[in-house]
Amino acid sequence: MPLATRLTEALGIRHPILLAPMGSIAGGRLAAAVTAAGGLGLIGGGYGDAEWLEREFAAAGNHRVGCGFITWSLARRPELLAQTLAHGPAAVMLSFGDPKPFAPAIKAAGAKLICQVQTLAHVDDALAAGAEIIVAQGSEAGGHGLTRATLPLVPQVVDRVRQRAPEAMVVAAGGIGDGRGLAAALMLGAEGVLVGTRFYASEESLARPRAKAQMVEATGEETIRTSVFDTVRGITWPKGFTGRALNNEFAQRWHGAEADLSGAVEREMARYQAAAAVGDFATAVIFGGEAMGLFDRVLPAGEIVNGMVAEAESALRAGAERIAG
Ligand SMILES: Cc1cc2nc3c(=O)[nH]c(=O)nc-3n(C[C@H](O)[C@H](O)[C@H](O)COP(=O)(O)O)c2cc1C
Repeated sequence: MPLATRLTEALGIRHPILLAPMGSIAGGRLAAAVTAAGGLGLIGGGYGDAEWLEREFAAAGNHRVGCGFITWSLARRPELLAQTLAHGPAAVMLSFGDPKPFAPAIKAAGAKLICQVQTLAHVDDALAAGAEIIVAQGSEAGGHGLTRATLPLVPQVVDRVRQRAPEAMVVAAGGIGDGRGLAAALMLGAEGVLVGTRFYASEESLARPRAKAQMVEATGEETIRTSVFDTVRGITWPKGFTGRALNNEFAQRWHGAEADLSGAVEREMARYQAAAAVGDFATAVIFGGEAMGLFDRVLPAGEIVNGMVAEAESALRAGAERIAG
């Protein structure tokens, strides 16, 4: 039985589950699999690479998918938006930066504008840009973000959106890795969830098998929010943003010693790139969030979607029974 919400209605999907546009991990095959299972897959455009985007839209075939970008990086390669819109995406998600310059083209192309936010001030920016869907991302999330926790952030964003733009809707992200999280998000007033970490460890994701295996074995306690992987890759994020990743030897060596890392960055960058090229994850990053520990197997994405929905339905039924009679 479908879990119908305003999100499923607005996007014409069966289940209120969006695949997070994880840069270089959420390719066309994964996005297509999530869509085929009744959610909506978003290709992870990340920092933006024209060739990669073409390949991954092709890999999605005829499935209806969307695409997401890191907004401050898209601002440096704005031509990638037109390239993306030419594929007729169902939605474009913008995160981490001012969405306003890109919103008119997205809406004119008939794609839904999704903005991922980390603070209430970001909500105001997203609504000013005309966002139809606001993803409230808590710091439990894998990948980049800020400091607010999902549980109190989501209802506060829901209240803000209700007051200022009741036609818009909120989706919860950060730490949601099973049906209990989906049910909880709906109870917080969200219309659905955006899931990254759980789909990283899916059969269709572009992550290396060894990275998926490490994620399956880890718990949320083994993750860390840090900037050391950005520093060593030579990527400058806006102030305050860090990335949540699996803690590894590299993070243990340099987290808290960022100034020393900056001083040694040339040597460390070469060493890092060599490790990343061969999938040596004692050094190379595995971005992922506290949802690690909520799953113990790499599964096809469709099974993940169906499992989350079935579990959410039984959690919601069990909740209703508590007050029945
Ligand atoms: C490996 C990885 C890469 C990510 N890359 C991006 C990205 O390029 N753009 C983006 O908007 N969000 C990115 N995110 C964050 C997701 O959009 C989302 O907020 C997060 O995955 C939700 O939390 P969860 O990982 O606990 O499900 C990434 C997350 C992960 C795990």
